[in-house]
Amino acid sequence: MMTPHQFDKVINRYKTNSLKWDALEERFGKANVLPLWVADMDFRAPNAVIEALKKVAEHGIFGYTVRPDSFYESLISWFERRHDWKIKKDSILVSPGIVPALSLLVQAFTEPGDHVIIQSPVYHPFFHVVQQNGRNLIDNPLILNDKKYEINFDDLEQKLREYECKLMLFCSPHNPAGRVWTKKELIKVGELCKKYNVLLISDEIHCDLIYKGHQHIPFASLSKEFQDLSITCVAPSKTFNLAGLQSSALIIPNKDIREQYKRSLKIENSDMLNSFAIAAFEAAYNDGEQWLENLMEYLEDNVQFLISFFEEQIPEVNVIPPEGTYLIWLDFRKLGLSVKELESFLLTEAKVALNQGYIFGKTGEGFVRINIACPRKTLEEGLHRIKLAVNTLKNT
Ligand SMILES: Cc1ncc(COP(=O)(O)O)c(C=O)c1O
Repeated sequence: MMTPHQFDKVINRYKTNSLKWDALEERFGKANVLPLWVADMDFRAPNAVIEALKKVAEHGIFGYTVRPDSFYESLISWFERRHDWKIKKDSILVSPGIVPALSLLVQAFTEPGDHVIIQSPVYHPFFHVVQQNGRNLIDNPLILNDKKYEINFDDLEQKLREYECKLMLFCSPHNPAGRVWTKKELIKVGELCKKYNVLLISDEIHCDLIYKGHQHIPFASLSKEFQDLSITCVAPSKTFNLAGLQSSALIIPNKDIREQYKRSLKIENSDMLNSFAIAAFEAAYNDGEQWLENLMEYLEDNVQFLISFFEEQIPEVNVIPPEGTYLIWLDFRKLGLSVKELESFLLTEAKVALNQGYIFGKTGEGFVRINIACPRKTLEEGLHRIKLAVNTLKNT
């Protein structure tokens, strides 16, 4: 007899202070929609994490914190085991979140008016951390070639040269394109950054969520030269579903770059993690490996389920098959709806809350991002709702 899969269990998340489930009215203007948006999972974290958190809670004192050696060792060991990347302890800095760190990095390494390059369609805070800090955004849009996004290297080189970009925000693996960049692609990006003296911020928050047949390569692991021109952002938050605990790390191997960042950190005074974050971080990296293996098996099946569902039942919508991440990019352009019509159609007719493609840049218009990190039953319900709405649209 088959045992029920641990991730099949539907867990009620209403009234748990969940952004995904409890902010629907506020964010979408509708409370009765199925949330398949923002990047967290509807799954319980690994048991080891829950036990570690209980221990902290039971101690009952939640004062200011320091981080023990074992905190750093958990990260170092994880990246060596899983990604063949040797990280030195003194190159690790922490931040409650990667987005606040990105904003601080923009402030630390550029001046107002400087140019920062990104590759749209891309995780929307990449736009905000540049523009709201008064820097100029340069876009090197990805090219969609037969359901696969690729880097336009000629355009990248031309823009790095023309605008003398100081910084590149690089999403690896890419959200929402689902690409896991190959060694060849990473080397080409790195060579261009070297040639034009660009500091590369490699956001690798999705690095552990990789599907069969693909391999994540940490940019900085490729060479000493690449280490010296890059800062890597990592976290257990996506991997183990700990986003609400807020702990992430920056790997800055180059001493001068590190010192420059530390000076900004001092101004912000944001070099402390909360007691729960420290315990969860360490437990996840030390003891979460089997949980992650099981998760990836489940997500792999969810991806296949979604691809088959669209092919067979909603062929008007094209799925961009993901190589990594649990966020899948769907091409709704064949429906012929405007951006606002598509948004309203999915909310009002299909009753699903998804991330609209336009928030990821102009190149995202007509697309939608769906989060498949939920029990199969929830995903199935969401896809059925979309199917019924599309059928109604076709018949009117
Ligand atoms: C590429 C990328 N970077 C950063 C984040 C968020 O990081 P944090 O919650 O640590 O600010 C996300 C969340 O979806 C993401 O997709």
